[in-house]
Amino acid sequence: ASALPEGYTVRALRQSDYSAGFLDCLRVLTTVGEITEAQFAARYEEMKKKDDIYYILVIEDASSGKPVVVGTGALIVEHKFIHALGKVGHIEDIAVAKDQQGKKLGLRLIQALDFIAEKVGCYKTILDCSEANEGFYVKCGFRRAGLQMAHYH
Ligand code: ACO
Repeated sequence: ASALPEGYTVRALRQSDYSAGFLDCLRVLTTVGEITEAQFAARYEEMKKKDDIYYILVIEDASSGKPVVVGTGALIVEHKFIHALGKVGHIEDIAVAKDQQGKKLGLRLIQALDFIAEKVGCYKTILDCSEANEGFYVKCGFRRAGLQMAHYH
């Protein structure tokens, strides 16, 4: 039941995904802005140095020749003092291309990120979402907990 459609793969983000539509995939989520390949590479390298903290996955669709990024999601592992040096997984920036939604790609991303979180020893995985997305996360096994507050700068 946990298979992706034929020709689709879940894997870690690569630097070459700049040219495979990674940023366009993120644009279904929010404003991304104009990011040059060099700027992308610099941020990618920065995150790669902290590979026990940043886990960025993509779903690639290679079914029509040129591979395209059709989904992405991030796990950020927070290292704490409490709970005996516990770790908390934060799921962030989940996006599935408009024309690929409804194929369980979002669900597969969440399952893969939550699997990594558990494997690296996170005692819980948390995320923030809109009311409109609550049903999706409930289907992924999450439940409402707490209240988010923000101070935008
Ligand atoms: N409300 C209720 N149920 C939903 C919703 C929703 N908004 N979206 C999907 N579902 C259901 C599906 O119907 C499916 O149910 P089923 O198993 O009974 O068939 C189940 O959830 C799994 O759905 P997927 O097919 O895996 O969902 P999809 O691949 O379309 O991805 C996502 C969902 C990520 C929300 C996608 O629609 C998207 O990219 N939206 C725009 C960006 C966005 O809002 N991202 C999330 C921001 S929150 C965050 O990043 C932490």
